Amino acid sequence: MVLLGINAYAHDSAVALLDGPRILAFVEEERFNREKHTTAFPDRSLRWVLEHHGLDLSDVDELAFFLKPWQLIASRTARALRYLPRSLVQFTTYRPGNALRILALGSYLRNGSFGARRAPRFRLRYVDHHLAHAASAYYLSGFEEAAILSIDGAGEDITTWFGRGMGHRIVRRHCVRLPHSLGLLYSAVTDYLGFKPWGGEGKVMGLAPYGDPARYRSAMHGLLHWNEDGRFELDLRYFDFHVTGWTRWISPAFEQVFGPRRPPQSELTSRHQDVAAALQEVVEDAALALVRHLHRLVPSRNLCLAGGVALNSVMNGRIRREGPFEHMFVQPAANDAGTALGGALLIAHGLLGLPRVESPEVVYLGPEYSAADHEAAARDLGLVIERPDDAVERTAELLAAGKIVGWFQGRMEVGPRALGNRSILADPRDATMKDTLNHRVKHREAFRPFAPSVLEEHAAEWFEGVASSPHMLLVFPVNPARRGRVPAVTHVDGTARVQTVSARSNPRFHRLIAAFGRRTGVPMLLNTSFNVQGEPIVCTPSNAVHCFKGTDMDYLVLGDLVLRKP
Ligand SMILES: [Fe+2]
Repeated sequence: MVLLGINAYAHDSAVALLDGPRILAFVEEERFNREKHTTAFPDRSLRWVLEHHGLDLSDVDELAFFLKPWQLIASRTARALRYLPRSLVQFTTYRPGNALRILALGSYLRNGSFGARRAPRFRLRYVDHHLAHAASAYYLSGFEEAAILSIDGAGEDITTWFGRGMGHRIVRRHCVRLPHSLGLLYSAVTDYLGFKPWGGEGKVMGLAPYGDPARYRSAMHGLLHWNEDGRFELDLRYFDFHVTGWTRWISPAFEQVFGPRRPPQSELTSRHQDVAAALQEVVEDAALALVRHLHRLVPSRNLCLAGGVALNSVMNGRIRREGPFEHMFVQPAANDAGTALGGALLIAHGLLGLPRVESPEVVYLGPEYSAADHEAAARDLGLVIERPDDAVERTAELLAAGKIVGWFQGRMEVGPRALGNRSILADPRDATMKDTLNHRVKHREAFRPFAPSVLEEHAAEWFEGVASSPHMLLVFPVNPARRGRVPAVTHVDGTARVQTVSARSNPRFHRLIAAFGRRTGVPMLLNTSFNVQGEPIVCTPSNAVHCFKGTDMDYLVLGDLVLRKP
């Protein structure tokens, strides 16, 4: 039984491939077509997952698409009619072709250029968007039963989904619909602060600790209301996205309260920091209220989180500390990429009743390249090649000497975080490293923080209340007595977005951090994604070499080769 899951034409297009209940591959199209958060159909991802496993479309039995197009069209049309004539502006950006393409997906794939040996016979199923988010978290969580919360901008028209997973089954218990959306609130303020919605939200989260939430706390609370029974509403006087179809995000009333919108690239002032701080705080408070309501509906010990808002690692940290659940699993590709996987898992388990299997690792599911590929990329672009006896020990030595190293190993990660296979690594002890990396390597805003990857067995010595966080989706306070030792990974508020690395989840990365720890007494590395501002994380050795050559990284380690510029 071969199952495919696809997300296309929205954002973060992706493909997942399953052999029965077993996940074989899961990749985002942006890594192949090099367009961040791409909306394109994931042709390249689809070709790669099939070819890599010796399959073609005629081998596929089931295909899940990540939303229900008719519900999407009905919901969009209803809203456009409701807000006439102001909603007419939607039609300047409306792309009816996308809805048609989604409806014609079956024939596109059957007649397309995917090189099937015989006529494909897969069954195409359009899956409820939030059910796909929920499935992407629950079926990987290892929990036999759990409460599930999915929060995003919007699916077909649901924005916040409360449900329960039991064995094979997932059921919805409550929901909030458009235009009332915690994700769209965050995106609207992201746009107001001069960053790109649907991508720049993480920058706002990074900016927030520089500000004082008190200045705009009550104004921000005025934008939304929630209560004990899970109701959640935005005050629509302050927003325009629901009327304009995301052409304009905020209304003039918003600027009357918070001041004029910040033009992109202009100076960031304390006002912008304070708005970000108030937003982050109010979103955390609202999310905690939603989680508490979920616990009343589903009084489980286990929580699964998905949806784009679940990438807010600071919020996740508070849910873990202050929420009513004992155990928590966050889908690492919590954004819409995850719905490609979730859709396929939903068919496998929820519909076909296939047994759940333990997934030892749910992140490293992308392409891997051979030693010959590494060698060819290094030669083509004229790098100096060093072949140490042990590339891990040599890399640890370089990092301990303050070098910035591009680290390219094994199968590519899925999701927005680099988790030790497509990473840029550096010494967390160096207080100047953050500025060096932001300016000379990543070419990004000076305020943005860097995260630590710490050996799981030593994490509790360095971070307060730390839990297993293999996917870098939780923020913890750095132990105050040790903050001074790792300034490059301690954010301005004394916290860090932690990746805990175990020998089981990523043995080679674990060995590298341990080797660095033996040399320095600090069992962690600064770990940032292997890319520069505005570009997707590198996929191929050649991507890595190009990125390396365009920045001030000192070394590039491709598999066992240690490379430097001539
Ligand atoms: Fe979504």
